[in-house]
Amino acid sequence: MYKDFLKLLDLSPEEIGELIDLAAELKRKKKAGEPHRYLEGKNIALIFEKTSTRTRCSFEVAASDLGMNSTYLAGGSQFGLKESIADSARVLCRMYDAIEYRGYGQSVVEELAEYSSVPVINGLTDEFHPTQILADFLTIRERFGRLKGIKLVYMGDARFNTGNSLMVGCAKMGLDFTACSPVGYFPDPELTGRCSKIAENTGASISFLSDPKEAVKDADVIYTDIWVSMGEPEEIWDERIKLMLPYQVNTELMDAAGEDCVFMHCLPSYHDKNTQIGRKVCEKYGLDALEVTNEVFESDRSIVFDEAENRMHTIKAVILSLLRGGKING
Ligand code: CP
Ligand code: NVA
Repeated sequence: MYKDFLKLLDLSPEEIGELIDLAAELKRKKKAGEPHRYLEGKNIALIFEKTSTRTRCSFEVAASDLGMNSTYLAGGSQFGLKESIADSARVLCRMYDAIEYRGYGQSVVEELAEYSSVPVINGLTDEFHPTQILADFLTIRERFGRLKGIKLVYMGDARFNTGNSLMVGCAKMGLDFTACSPVGYFPDPELTGRCSKIAENTGASISFLSDPKEAVKDADVIYTDIWVSMGEPEEIWDERIKLMLPYQVNTELMDAAGEDCVFMHCLPSYHDKNTQIGRKVCEKYGLDALEVTNEVFESDRSIVFDEAENRMHTIKAVILSLLRGGKING
């Protein structure tokens, strides 16, 4: 049993499967209005060095549903400024039963876990976004009734948190993962090597292509993420737009995939000009949308809001599993 939830590489396929099962049961309970305050009186600290809607709200609602209290720490705390990670970890674990961290380096969340006696959960780092993948897989399972053998094509910048974690998740759970990116935007070779080894035992496959039409052939899921991630400099849009535009998910690309293919996105998304950044970038380059067109985003094939909802149920499963061994009876 794992003490922390830092990256999917640390969990066995069985453990990941159990978390998804638990999330499905917690979702059923929530919909049925069945109370599930299994962690009454416990406390969780939520450290956010980057912005968030889904992850923060998921942690806060999940904690509240479980009977816990949460403290949101973003700006205004001493974390990393006047106090080292190791000291903050040793302070917070004297007061809290769990700690969530969203920020930059994976090394920060790993160090927090090393110095904390209570579980630490990765709410996104530059390298990994493991709670996102649990929600994605619950959503895929709800749609297709299985994970094994599903062909998931990730379009765009595959060398950041979401692309990396999807590759690990697919390798662990036996999906066929294709990253479709410009050269230089594929996941790190060392991580790819580890995933290929895992895939040998799970029946998964991992491939890298740069031709979108070829990549999406027979795809069950086309997945994308924004082209410039949190923490990357704004000036990078110039080169990213040029490189990534051929990887935009549009109706033509969806039509080139399997008939039942769905569209997924971790969100937030620049599918129209209704955001400050999206509008600025679209206007500068004469575009209506960036990584996905509005037509695809708003279509029946888009399951992005099921996916967003499932962030909460899966994060609840992670908290419960870490603090109570996943036990939901007695
Ligand atoms: N998908 C995701 O992590 O969303 P937020 O950045 O809003 O938390
Ligand atoms: N790759 C994106 C994911 C957002 C949920 C980012 O890091 O900004």
